[in-house]
Amino acid sequence: MSEALVEPVPRVTVRAPAKINLHLGVGSPRPDGMHPLATVYQAVGLYDDVTVTDAPSWSVGLTAPIDGVPLDGSNIAVQAGRALVAHHGIDLAARITIAKGIPVMGGMAGGSADAAATLLALDRLWDLQTSDEDLLRIAGTLGSDVPFALLGGTALGTGRGELVEPLEDRSSVWWVVVLSDEGLSTPSVYQRFDALSPDADPEPRIPDALIAALAEGYTEEVGALLHNDLWPAARDLRPDLVDTEEQLRILGPDGVLLSGSGPTLLMLHEDVEEARSAVAELTERGLRCTVAPGPVAGAHVVTYA
Ligand code: C5P
Repeated sequence: MSEALVEPVPRVTVRAPAKINLHLGVGSPRPDGMHPLATVYQAVGLYDDVTVTDAPSWSVGLTAPIDGVPLDGSNIAVQAGRALVAHHGIDLAARITIAKGIPVMGGMAGGSADAAATLLALDRLWDLQTSDEDLLRIAGTLGSDVPFALLGGTALGTGRGELVEPLEDRSSVWWVVVLSDEGLSTPSVYQRFDALSPDADPEPRIPDALIAALAEGYTEEVGALLHNDLWPAARDLRPDLVDTEEQLRILGPDGVLLSGSGPTLLMLHEDVEEARSAVAELTERGLRCTVAPGPVAGAHVVTYA
């Protein structure tokens, strides 16, 4: 018998992280309705795994059913796939399967992680050799947070968030991620921001002190400088967050923060044992929470078979 090689089914899995914003400065809306941002992103250790295989047409599925994730062409992962093939002028399609570990509609950019992971996975599946520059540019057309999901680590975000630049970050921290049973829609939070902040600065800025504290790895200082301009809008839409925030502050973390447009809340801890005991305490009080390290890597291939 000849030693015919059995072609393996090409399958690539890419893991992409959740993000938080250590500083989220939001300006008054631009003519296109989007808000100029001056943000410091950090990738944290909650992940979505995206697996792609060749298929005659585009489709997307989840490894476990989750409300709020579209399973048709409107899913941002499918949009990412279509954008990549359009960029290369090729006629290919894939089945995309997502294992979600990032909270849905939690303000942690789970959809953006899926888009970033899909771009990278398909690039490897079809060996397209897309340059990093092109991947970042295509990512930026898909959503404000998608380029950062490719980059990971800690980074400066400007424009509407899509222009990213790595930042030196010597800190190594533990986030207690406090989940909410109900999500918040990002556009509604930005709309409420507009109503509450008619005089927002058109050119928001990052405090130099935060950049310096990250470069030095001064966690306590980073904790004291955490800031999110969308917080008043999220509190206004979800008054229950005020009580949760109070419960978190009483535990004495290095900092408390709303994640992105919310409603996920975060506590910063330098010490993992403190983070774990905060999780135990909050779980006892009926809150859903977990620990995630930061910063972590951006989208990366985990299996290729
Ligand atoms: O860019 P992305 O698709 O993630 O944005 C989702 C929505 O969030 C936008 O349609 C817009 O309503 C709001 N947004 C904004 N300004 C930004 C980012 C997002 O108004 N810089």
